[in-house]
Amino acid sequence: MSLLKGRSLIEPDDFSLNEMESLFKLAEIIEKDEKYLRDSCRGRLLASLFFEPSTRTRLSFEAAMLRLGGNCLGFAESGSSSASKGESLADTIRMASSYADTIVMRSPKEGSALLASRYSSVPVINAGDGGHHHPTQTLTDLLSIKLLLGNIENITVGFCGDLKFGRTVHSLAKALARYKAIRMIFISPKELILPDYIKNNLQKQNVDFIENENLEKSMPELDVLYMTRVQRERFFNEDDYIRLKDTYVLNSDKMSAGKEKLIVLHPLPRVNEIAIEIDSDPRAAYFKQAKYGMYIRMALLASILGVNI
Ligand code: CP
Repeated sequence: MSLLKGRSLIEPDDFSLNEMESLFKLAEIIEKDEKYLRDSCRGRLLASLFFEPSTRTRLSFEAAMLRLGGNCLGFAESGSSSASKGESLADTIRMASSYADTIVMRSPKEGSALLASRYSSVPVINAGDGGHHHPTQTLTDLLSIKLLLGNIENITVGFCGDLKFGRTVHSLAKALARYKAIRMIFISPKELILPDYIKNNLQKQNVDFIENENLEKSMPELDVLYMTRVQRERFFNEDDYIRLKDTYVLNSDKMSAGKEKLIVLHPLPRVNEIAIEIDSDPRAAYFKQAKYGMYIRMALLASILGVNI
């Protein structure tokens, strides 16, 4: 695991499949024994710089660092940092990296985490850059598939909702393309289809995928259904958001067409796209998934900080 020491994570394929597998194994150990690695990061500091709202990513990173015995610093919102006075991202990162041992950052701007990594003297972890990537959500999603289905091969994954702006979809599709015999079905209204640059890459890698607008039709084929929220904050026009926001609502009727062993994932937050009645269906895995996010972030922080495992 020392291979990850000092490394940044900006895009989902910054780590090899073997490196990700080692992280999954470590996260599985921590999931079974939450005291494993306790205090292994004593004296180390995580700077969490969130220029966009977050519940899960920020809290799970901070919980992960505290559970490892380290500490966290950061601002509660970008408005309370000197970015609001016009300080550049480069200068903000120079400062944060002189105070902390690693930085986790989220920004509405695509490419900001890569830029930050160029000015940082410590590893930078991308917690979401605009509609681009969210690689630690991808580690969470892959770990969830592995723990709940037993492997990440020979499966059909349906992505449903806002595939245009959904960075978690972009990252997960890119990562899944590296596994064997993965079929992907991209279900969205025409206005929210997957960007061409992602589709072109899938085509180059000979990934088996189709696009359609019909969730009901796809349900019987799926091993994983990855639901997503239509992201109001990325729309230029409120009328378009209102017209599209409830295109897909997963309810009991639709679930009845799904396989017995289907798992339903969602990066969360959920708005209307999964009816509350689905929460008690044993196939609903999104809250478990969010908890696995803390374990994989513990594994990631310990590895990047060079803990002897
Ligand atoms: N999945 C995710 O990124 O959730 P938050 O926006 O709450 O961090």
